[in-house]
Amino acid sequence: MGTNSADSAGTNSAPENAAIELKKVHKRFGDFTAVQDFSVQIRKGEFFSLLGPSGCGKTTTLRMIAGLEEVSGGSIWLDGGDVTGLPAYRRNVNTVFQDYAIFPHMNVLKNVYFPLRMRKIPLREALPDIRRMLQLVNMQDYENRLSQQLSGGQRQRIALARSLVNRPAALLLDEPLGALDFKLRVAMQQVLKDIQRNVGITFVYVTHDQTEALTMSDRIAVMKDGLVHQIGTPNDIYKDPATAFVASFIGDMNFLHGAYAGDEDGVDVIQLGDTVVKGKKRRYTYSGREEVLVCLRSEDIVISGQAGMQNKISAVVKRVVFRGADYEIGCALKNGDELRCVVSASMMDSAFAPGAPVTLGCDDANVITFPKSQGRDILDYGGGEEA
Ligand SMILES: Nc1ncnc2c1ncn2[C@@H]1O[C@H](COP(=O)(O)OP(=O)(O)OP(=O)(O)O)[C@@H](O)[C@H]1O
Ligand SMILES: [Mg+2]
Repeated sequence: MGTNSADSAGTNSAPENAAIELKKVHKRFGDFTAVQDFSVQIRKGEFFSLLGPSGCGKTTTLRMIAGLEEVSGGSIWLDGGDVTGLPAYRRNVNTVFQDYAIFPHMNVLKNVYFPLRMRKIPLREALPDIRRMLQLVNMQDYENRLSQQLSGGQRQRIALARSLVNRPAALLLDEPLGALDFKLRVAMQQVLKDIQRNVGITFVYVTHDQTEALTMSDRIAVMKDGLVHQIGTPNDIYKDPATAFVASFIGDMNFLHGAYAGDEDGVDVIQLGDTVVKGKKRRYTYSGREEVLVCLRSEDIVISGQAGMQNKISAVVKRVVFRGADYEIGCALKNGDELRCVVSASMMDSAFAPGAPVTLGCDDANVITFPKSQGRDILDYGGGEEA
């Protein structure tokens, strides 16, 4: 009964097959490369997201896993078996798309019954399963409703129930909440996450919404132009972005122009305008007086005079924006770079007014740097041209 298989979802008992494995998967359309060398092992019961801007190759990747698109290179494995050459119907996965097509001429019950009917399971026998699925998506009171008598969120829940009733080993979801308004979207995120926990099915979830990916996923693959920039937990990706693109795509990041000024006890020393900051995060090594991108998250910066503050940077307040719970303060450094920081409403000081000189500070551990050449990959950065 219960869940779809006896797999020990969520445990780390080692020698188990990955639910889904991509080995150097490649996809070309003509001479255009849509996905490059994608390798990953997705664990059983994992909530795994593909995140990236429009056109980065998320849907193409999902379609290759589903068997709806052929790979141009590499292989795809489901539960330890190579399925690269198998058609979609022979893979134990199910796909839910953005437009949640459910059959308009069938009521809710018949819609959810449909996949079981295809397998010639009599309704009488299927009923307990159907009802369990309807309960799971909280639609048990709607059995006789037709599609057009349901809201978008309700239709999407029926589409989910229908895709789960066959108990696939994995569910592939392509922006399934994309058509819903913001509030419903947030509510459905919770529904989806709860369902995934309850049934223990592996989810591969496509989204271009970073908040959605951060809040729902166990791990995320961040993609750009067909290339995977980083695979990691939301925490990894947020705290330790592997590339400047990831840093710019996730959260609110400041990018500043700096220059490498040497090593001090295993910490990078970076010249930033007329001050020097130290950075502990060291993904890249630099030489000489190489120019670097310095990344600081707005919430990691403290403003003015706090005791024990590391990396003091002088600046002048340019803008103060009230945002309800907090203020965003935009400051200009001497070299013209701008740095945004966040001050909670309760900590706000009238001294932080446009024109006021301030001292900004940040921890060594929160200073992230990238080679300057990565500037061309980042979003909203004014300094890429001259590279
Ligand atoms: N059948 C096809 N023929 C040619 N090019 C294609 C085809 N399908 C997709 N592409 C191209 O491959 C790239 C990746 O497309 P894909 O649909 O995977 O992007 P995506 O990340 O899902 O984007 P979005 O967020 O807009 O849905 C795009 O540049 C797209 O134009
Ligand atoms: Mg897509």
